[in-house]
Amino acid sequence: MLEITDLVKDFPLPDRSRLPVLDIPQFSISAAEQVVLIGESGGGKTTLLHCIAGITAPTSGRIGINGLQLTKLSEAGRDRVRAARIGYVFQTFNLLPGFSALENVWLGMSFAGKGHDRNRAVDLLQRVGLSNRLHHKPHALSVGQQQRVAVARALANRPTLLLADEPTANIDPANQQKIIDLIRDCCREEEVAMLMVTHSMQIAEQFDRVERLEEINRVHPDEAAQGDQE
Ligand SMILES: Nc1ncnc2c1ncn2[C@@H]1O[C@H](COP(=O)(O)OP(=O)(O)OP(=O)(O)O)[C@@H](O)[C@H]1O
Ligand SMILES: [Mg+2]
Repeated sequence: MLEITDLVKDFPLPDRSRLPVLDIPQFSISAAEQVVLIGESGGGKTTLLHCIAGITAPTSGRIGINGLQLTKLSEAGRDRVRAARIGYVFQTFNLLPGFSALENVWLGMSFAGKGHDRNRAVDLLQRVGLSNRLHHKPHALSVGQQQRVAVARALANRPTLLLADEPTANIDPANQQKIIDLIRDCCREEEVAMLMVTHSMQIAEQFDRVERLEEINRVHPDEAAQGDQE
């Protein structure tokens, strides 16, 4: 369902040189497959997820999602694909501060044009253990609670691909496992493919497929850091 070919991403630097981050000849995920992505901090995991989600345009290469070539679309076109097909749990949550937990989950659905399904939003918030926080706004939620809202929101619009960037980094170990189980069960039940970034080996070892970014990416962090100094 996800097919990446010759993906290159580099960032322009103030001195007009380029900082190489990604050079991935091939990477794919099958429908409903669950994959963990591990790798060094600064290696490019978030950048890869941003490219797949269409948030960032790659420098070159192809990204196909269900046969649709994301890299041929305009920014607005990529936004539509993301809203319709992709759930994203951001490393920094990106919840809307003016809205309650329930509204944040609900709004995920309206962006996708699928209409509000209040029962599903409530059910997802219940499953992440927040049934008693439905009407709290992000500032009144703990960091871990905000992260759980972000997980519920990402699953709300029944995506075909879930991208999760360290979705349990701010959650205590007992609840971490619950969130992982929730994400995996939900993805299994609804045949959602998943790519999850984690720094936790305890989480990674639960997955059949674990990819190390350094092994699929030809750019290595020290090389990128060198580019930084030049
Ligand atoms: N907009 C940007 N402009 C310039 N450089 C950037 C930009 N975004 C990311 N980078 C650089 O790209 C590299 C990869 O960053 P990225 O956030 O993808 O790493 P990561 O693997 O997700 O790290 P972590 O595990 O710490 O979250 C870093 O060296 C970072 O400085
Ligand atoms: Mg990151």
